[in-house]
Amino acid sequence: MRAVLVANPKGGAGKTTLATNLSGYFASQGKKTTLCDLDRQQSSLRWMAFRDPALPSITGYYGGNQISLSLPREADWVVVDAPAGLQGYKLSDYLKAVDKVLIPLVPSVFDMAATEDFLNAIRGEVRGVRAKVGIVAMRVDPRTKAAGMLEEFLTHFDIPIVAYVRNTQNYVNVAASGATVFDPPRARHRRDMEQWQSLVQWVEKK
Ligand SMILES: Nc1ncnc2c1ncn2[C@@H]1O[C@H](COP(=O)(O)OP(=O)(O)OP(=O)(O)O)[C@@H](O)[C@H]1O
Ligand SMILES: [Mg+2]
Repeated sequence: MRAVLVANPKGGAGKTTLATNLSGYFASQGKKTTLCDLDRQQSSLRWMAFRDPALPSITGYYGGNQISLSLPREADWVVVDAPAGLQGYKLSDYLKAVDKVLIPLVPSVFDMAATEDFLNAIRGEVRGVRAKVGIVAMRVDPRTKAAGMLEEFLTHFDIPIVAYVRNTQNYVNVAASGATVFDPPRARHRRDMEQWQSLVQWVEKK
């Protein structure tokens, strides 16, 4: 079993969007995939309830009431969707339980300011931070000024950007039916699946 934590203290950064789509990717590859929802709002589990049983299967559970995070050993991949505001001893516990950490980050001054302490805390706790922690630049085109601003901000933390995810209604539309950009209609999601290539390669790298 390998596990990925998706976390950012800022609300609405794109954690659930990343966690659900990453789960969809693993499931589409025939992997036994479990989504662990740590958020009391349980957005990931609500999403899963809409999922068509004909699509590659993803199992899920609420893990937010555990004192210490314990993940199901029998899965190939566990994707952990963290709540906004995650910090302190819970963050430390979750960091220990997973192989990789993905941090979705929208390149706005508000989002970057709200994430700064979190990135510093992670850097202080994770050894070999570059191999274990990756940023996903959310809702941004890599050729824009906003992307440049994000890259400049991240030079202070030595944490790599592992993918750029564009702003598109595709994510909103698939979410409404418990699907992901790795589910049909794939022709409509071609550009998005391409953008995920670097992300999944980085996550799968041992
Ligand atoms: N790349 C994208 N393009 C368009 N919309 C997006 C994209 N990523 C996320 N969104 C939308 O932004 C909103 C917030 O995303 P999401 O729920 O994934 O964030 P979150 O970090 O899980 O939020 P919370 O902190 O409340 O759990 C959602 O409505 C989602 O559909
Ligand atoms: Mg969420």
